[in-house]
Amino acid sequence: MPPVIQLRTEIPGPASRALFERRASAVPRGVPAVTPIAVVHAEGAVITDADGNRLIDFAGGIGVVNTGHRHPGVVDAVRLQLERFAHVCFPVSTYEPYVQLAERLNRITPGTHPKKTFLLNSGAEALENAVKVARHFTGRPAVVCFEHAFHGRTNLTMALTSKVSPYKKGFGPFAPEVYRIPFPYCYRCPEARHGASDANGCCLANRSRLEQMFAAIVDPTSVAAIVMELQLGEGGFVPAPKEYVSELAAFARQHGILFIADEIQTGFGRTGKLFASEHYDLVPDIIVTAKSLAGGFPLAAVTGRAEVMDAPQVGGLGGTYGGNPLACAAALAVIDAIEVEELPVRAMRMGEQIRSRFCQWATEHEAVGDVRGLGAMMALELVRDRGSKTPNPELTQAVLSAAMRRGLILLAAGTYGNVIRLLAPLTTPEPVLEEGLDVLEQSLKAAVS
Ligand SMILES: Cc1ncc(COP(=O)(O)O)c(C=O)c1O
Repeated sequence: MPPVIQLRTEIPGPASRALFERRASAVPRGVPAVTPIAVVHAEGAVITDADGNRLIDFAGGIGVVNTGHRHPGVVDAVRLQLERFAHVCFPVSTYEPYVQLAERLNRITPGTHPKKTFLLNSGAEALENAVKVARHFTGRPAVVCFEHAFHGRTNLTMALTSKVSPYKKGFGPFAPEVYRIPFPYCYRCPEARHGASDANGCCLANRSRLEQMFAAIVDPTSVAAIVMELQLGEGGFVPAPKEYVSELAAFARQHGILFIADEIQTGFGRTGKLFASEHYDLVPDIIVTAKSLAGGFPLAAVTGRAEVMDAPQVGGLGGTYGGNPLACAAALAVIDAIEVEELPVRAMRMGEQIRSRFCQWATEHEAVGDVRGLGAMMALELVRDRGSKTPNPELTQAVLSAAMRRGLILLAAGTYGNVIRLLAPLTTPEPVLEEGLDVLEQSLKAAVS
């Protein structure tokens, strides 16, 4: 098979640079540009830029195209729906694709209890709504979230988000009644350095630790919900230890606190299961999904226990565009593709392939501090040296830039900007994945030397 990457110009080429000049005068600088290319076409795991360069995409629109760019089933379903109608507003006129998708999500999300789902436009909007529902059901004001978390850019989700710059700096005041506890980040756990380690179990995973933590920050009986990413996304692809999640879920149950799982980045097969919750035998009270739910169309969902979801009064939930029919048609086709093509199984295989390459690099480069992730949601954490574990964001950026020049699109992550994360489509053929990993390996070698 010939290589997928074909470069006709330097990256960025002249056509990309020309669009970036126009962008700079028309679009505010606050909207970031992670790569310097202008895209004209995308298919599967391949992106073509305005200069005719073909690049491999390991970013997947930030975890949105687990089914690949322009999955044929998704394209057909959207085209068919477009021929019928594009918008009527679900709260005004009911249509089947919305109801069918709600039924489907109620069925495929963890737990066999009765569930209900409503649909929104973005992950942040869905989290806002999940908290609204939890507050209404419990009659409690407080929400507990985590250090290193990312939940979005609206006011409440900025408050729930941990990273100050760029997400919060200058944007306050933030929503009240949001309390933050440490995320079980084993590689950087201060106690692990003093003997206990992740191999010996998570040092945060015990009931008295949780009681102490809550005693110091908020009365559990005033907490509506705990909002958690089971594997951090923007925060650095850190999977929580299973025992920690079990303890926390039991603590939440004991105190009548709802568990909201943010599966926006972990969902739809990425971790080798349909939802990361399944790795933890966790049945969240509410599960929030977006990103790969609709294969590139703006759609998010809040799915939860029926009695919880029915708490808010009529008219309290909804919106003009939430559950747009084109996006619903796309999502139904995405779920079909995930099932038929067994993408969670494929994610597990991809994850093994990626892990074995990453572990090899860890033996060759002192800068690779940690290799981690569930399924295909894999990352490398780069440090100055393994003893100090000092984050190395400069090296991370150098690897990303070197990869970009060679035709590979990659993303960083982490509170300290020193994590390289992979979000390649789960449909990426094995040789294309290998080709991309080869480029990443060359880029890492070039950057460390
Ligand atoms: C875990 C997680 N939650 C929430 C969000 C916010 O989603 P959106 O950008 O669709 O608002 C993101 C986006 O990256 C995310 O990764």
